[in-house]
Amino acid sequence: MEKRIIVAIDGHSSSGKSSMAKQLAQKHAYLYIDSGAMYRAVALYCLRKGWIKSPDLNVEALIGGLKDINISFCTEGQGLPRICLNGEDVEDEIRGMEVAGVVSLVSAVPELRQYLVGIQRSLARNKGVVMDGRDIGTAVFPEAELKIFLTAAAAVRAQRRYLELKEKGIKASYEDILHNIEMRDQMDLNRQASPLRKADDAIELDNGQMSPEEQNAWLEDRFNEVVYGKNRN
Ligand code: DC
Repeated sequence: MEKRIIVAIDGHSSSGKSSMAKQLAQKHAYLYIDSGAMYRAVALYCLRKGWIKSPDLNVEALIGGLKDINISFCTEGQGLPRICLNGEDVEDEIRGMEVAGVVSLVSAVPELRQYLVGIQRSLARNKGVVMDGRDIGTAVFPEAELKIFLTAAAAVRAQRRYLELKEKGIKASYEDILHNIEMRDQMDLNRQASPLRKADDAIELDNGQMSPEEQNAWLEDRFNEVVYGKNRN
C-alpha cells in the first residue's frame, strides 16, 4: 500500500497555498484542511458576539467562550470540505473583507491557537492530509514528511486575491486588499504565539512568476520524491 503522509503548506496570506493544497489532496484522495478557515470562523463568531470593536478584541470573552465554539468541516458529496461553525456552513461568509480585517486579532490569542491546534492534530491522526496555514510545519506538525513554504511579492498576491474575489462576486478594491495583505503579513510575522516563519526543513517556493499548472506540477514532484523516493515523471 502507498505510504500516506502529512503535507504541511505554510506561507503568507494569499500566496496560493490553498489552490496547491486542494489540488494535491484531490489528486491523491487526501483530506484537505484549510486551517486559516478555522481562524476565520472564530473571527466571525467574535464579530457576531460583538467582541470585536476594531482594533480591540475582548480576549477574556473569547477565552471564556471557547467551550461554546465548535469548529468542524462538513463535506457535501464528493466536494471539498466546507467550514462549519456550531453546525452552520459559514464557508462563504468567512471569505469577505470584514472577517479578513479582524482575523489577525483573533489568531494572535495563544489559548485559541492551542484549541485549534488540538482539532487540527486530531483531524490528521490517520495521516493522508494536506493542511495549509502559517504554523503547520513549525508548530502543528513539526514531524510532517513534506513541508512547503510559499512566498510571492505582496502586490502579486493582492492582484490574485482581487481577481479571486471579483470572480466570486465579492466587492473589494485592489488598494484595500493590498493594505489588508500587508497588515496581515506584519501581524502574522510579528505575533508572539507561533509567528509565521519557514521551518528549517521546509522547501521554499517563490511562486510569483509561476502559473497554477507549474505550481501543481512542482508540488506533485516534491510529493512523489517523499512518497516514492523519486520523481515519477
Ligand atoms: O490563510 P488565511 O488567509 O485564510 O488565514 C486567515 C488568518 O488566520 C491569517 O491572517 C492568519 C491566521 N492563520 C494563522 O494564524 N495560523 C494558521 N495556521 C492559519 C491561519
